Amino acid sequence: MLDANQDKPIPVPAPRIARFERLGFGMFVHWGLYAQIGRGEWAKNNQKIPTPEYMKLMETFTAKDFSGRALAKLAKRAGMKYITLTSRHHDGFSLYDTRGLSKLDVTHTPAKRDLIKDFTEGCRAEGILPMLYCTTLDWSDDRFSADFPAYLEYLRKSIEILCTHYGPIGGFWFDGNWSNPKADWQEDKLYGTIRKHQPEALIINNTGIGSEGQLGNPEIDSVTFERGRPKPLNRGGHPKYVAAEMCHTMNFHWGIANQDFNYLSPAHVIEELCLARRAGANLLMNLGPSASGKLPDYESAAWKRVGDWIALHGGDRGVIYNGRPTSIVGTGDDFALEMNGDLYLFVLDLTATANTQAHGAATRGPGKREFQGVSSQFKRACWTDNGEDLKMEQDLGTGHLVLHATGYPYGSNTVVRIARLQAS
Ligand code: GLC
Repeated sequence: MLDANQDKPIPVPAPRIARFERLGFGMFVHWGLYAQIGRGEWAKNNQKIPTPEYMKLMETFTAKDFSGRALAKLAKRAGMKYITLTSRHHDGFSLYDTRGLSKLDVTHTPAKRDLIKDFTEGCRAEGILPMLYCTTLDWSDDRFSADFPAYLEYLRKSIEILCTHYGPIGGFWFDGNWSNPKADWQEDKLYGTIRKHQPEALIINNTGIGSEGQLGNPEIDSVTFERGRPKPLNRGGHPKYVAAEMCHTMNFHWGIANQDFNYLSPAHVIEELCLARRAGANLLMNLGPSASGKLPDYESAAWKRVGDWIALHGGDRGVIYNGRPTSIVGTGDDFALEMNGDLYLFVLDLTATANTQAHGAATRGPGKREFQGVSSQFKRACWTDNGEDLKMEQDLGTGHLVLHATGYPYGSNTVVRIARLQAS
């Protein structure tokens, strides 16, 4: 339905890609030595800290409070189905045992345990899919600038270790090719390593801010929208169906930032989630654990609230995970998803105090909401949160539908309200 107007056929997604799309909501975790500095994951680069000095942070890296299981428990509670953890970030420090490939890994710290092992096992214990973020650029490894082919060999061997020691991995999330788009990153070889050892793993390569939604190597399974609102993909005529994912920060940093107070609210996250799903994209929301690996209180609390909202709208079987994009057009940011023949109208800005920062639409309040392009008849409309019946008018000839959106009862506000239109 996404490409209803396209004359070229839309390819059928591979099962791993179709599965990924239904995961809907994931957790991004940025954690490493930089958490001890508390000024985001770019601290080494921004503050121009020389590698020997920066790596002294390894001496105090205890990972005392890091628990993959705790991350997975929070994800589950928040309605997130997968976690993407930084196995190594741009600073060059690895959270896993690189088995002699590098001295800059967790085995050379007081933590003395393989945190990727802890992470993957913790996820599986809670039914959460573990995915691994892998940097492709490196601020500490001299080979990155002095001997690029040797560096790429190191990168490939690192990925091989991640593929062969931690059980099934949901996906590999690469980040950094944007630093030198002209370089030959030998992607075929890198992705070939993954296909060989982990054929079911998704391959993602972050195209970065300014290049959202761009297709790359044919092995890539999902495009990325780093902090950008996903647009519906035009898939007609492409050789392969790719998924889409938007990653977003809670406070404009990825690693923990002690002096950043500019957090998103649960309402904002709910809107971001809905507007990602409008385009069939997943939302990957980030948190940065503390220096010792503790989960941050604010994100934990905010995301539990988001989890409550998802539960109120059908939970695992609901439209948030299983609804498919349509070509129906609403006014403002209103939109429609389709699930099992029923139509779900997402109504935004229903209150005078609605959170509008995520999309910039003017506050509209209750009243008539118009939708264009509705080509089949629906019998009954009701709010999914409280079952209240709603009036609607439909003109099948023009595809015009009007929903009479009632306001929130005193004491309730679900930020985005969903009307279910039943086909029978
Ligand atoms: C950017 C940043 C990086 C972060 C990533 C997440 O590429 O360089 O720090 O990990 O975005 O999407």
